[in-house]
Amino acid sequence: MPNVVFVPLKKSKTIKAGATLLAAANQSDVPIGQSCSGDGICGWCKVRVLRGGESLAPPIALERKLMAQYNFASNERAACLAVINGDVEITTSYW
Ligand code: FES
Repeated sequence: MPNVVFVPLKKSKTIKAGATLLAAANQSDVPIGQSCSGDGICGWCKVRVLRGGESLAPPIALERKLMAQYNFASNERAACLAVINGDVEITTSYW
């Protein structure tokens, strides 16, 4: 099963493939900003992928729209929409 590392919190979570980064964070008591409860609207759940970007499923149309709307960098993803397929390390500006 994939492992998600929350840098620099020194926390990690093994989670089934197909879960989102937000689900992994929630199950690890790691705070992720959000105001739309994961509906892909607010953009507050933006996280930066430090390693394993290729282990995330490509963004769906809704996430691509969000990324463009909120000027995500190429290594940033919406935690509520980014689906985990393998090991990944992420961070935010507020951890
Ligand atoms: S939680 Fe709102 S876009 Fe992800």
